[in-house]
Amino acid sequence: MKKALTIALVMLVALTSVFAGGSAEGTTVVQNRQKPLVFFNRQPSDPVSGEIDMETMNWNDKTYYVGFDAVGGGVVQGQMIVDFLATADPATLDRNGDGVIGYVLCIGDVGHNDSRARTQGIRQALGTWAGSTDPGVSQEGSANVGGTTMPIVELDSRAMTGTDGSTWNANAATDAMGNWATQLGDQIDMVISNNDGMAMGCLQASNYPEGVPVFGYDANADALEAIAAGRLTGTVSQNADAQAAATLQTLRNLLDGLTGADVYTKGFTEPDQWGNQITPEVNYDAENKALLAANEAVTIANVDRLLSGARDEGIKQSEAPVVDVLLTIYNSADNFLSSNYLPALNYYAPLMGINLTVVQGDGQNESSCLDRFTNLANYDAYAINMVKTNSGPDYTSRLQYN
Ligand code: BGC
Repeated sequence: MKKALTIALVMLVALTSVFAGGSAEGTTVVQNRQKPLVFFNRQPSDPVSGEIDMETMNWNDKTYYVGFDAVGGGVVQGQMIVDFLATADPATLDRNGDGVIGYVLCIGDVGHNDSRARTQGIRQALGTWAGSTDPGVSQEGSANVGGTTMPIVELDSRAMTGTDGSTWNANAATDAMGNWATQLGDQIDMVISNNDGMAMGCLQASNYPEGVPVFGYDANADALEAIAAGRLTGTVSQNADAQAAATLQTLRNLLDGLTGADVYTKGFTEPDQWGNQITPEVNYDAENKALLAANEAVTIANVDRLLSGARDEGIKQSEAPVVDVLLTIYNSADNFLSSNYLPALNYYAPLMGINLTVVQGDGQNESSCLDRFTNLANYDAYAINMVKTNSGPDYTSRLQYN
């Protein structure tokens, strides 16, 4: 009896191996929980404290995060605004001549660490930081405006949540800007936003006060054009092109069986076995298992270089065996992800031998992605952009039992 059971078991294992063929890792059965899992753009973290969710990040030894230096990016955005003020003419900037520079702030998502880092970076640079990234919490600051120290006041700040509950909502920013322009009038000397989508949304307001400087973040194509046309004052590139390539390169490396430092050096600081290497700097943060692209301020001074939209020549068609990756995007309507990040993913994936299946959510319910995070055994790896930054366990639990 025992012997018969053993034979049956051996046959079952052999059969399963036959049917599980086709992956880059050969014909051995790879269970979903052993497959590469790369989070991108929304770092598994606590929406309130910002603490990284290391339990999710340690799901298996093939779990990584790919993003950019969020805190450093907030500092770059703040410094860009300070640099602008230093060369501005107080007589033009201070529209009502009251000796105070007033600004309004569009907040993306109070539970997203990218958004919080920018709010903090802006407020700290302008001296309006009162210890919190919450809307409405600020104090009077000051800055050098064209050689004169002037008080800076945050007139209002709002989290731009759409009527459908989605965050970073550009339409909400258009509405808010319309109201601000009506209520605050010429007290508004600057408009600052946690991203380009909302900054461009503000410019859409029919009563946008002409000529008032406006700052965004992301370096989306339409924002770059607006800078060149003198409508947007500045943005910050978080190098979405390099991040998209890095998300794919990390998956490629893991599926090629690389381990240890090879995962974040091959194709990054040296060519991978297929001859590919991402040109921009992508640094590894070992503590958080995160690969991070660098930020760069973009103004009229350097916009031309970015406007070309050139792809990275360090990545060419490789001979790598084709692998299947299931990738989620939290919101199909997110300007940054849909107009900047996703086109880059779609460009680099075939070059790296990655066949992407993309699932896009509604930006408010995790289920809009999770409901299509299915047929998991059909994929060799997963790339996840969560709706909520603390939803990591919802995805890993799906990978647990097969
Ligand atoms: C981008 C935002 C985007 C968000 C989505 C951020 O890094 O700057 O524009 O809406 O990611 O998660």
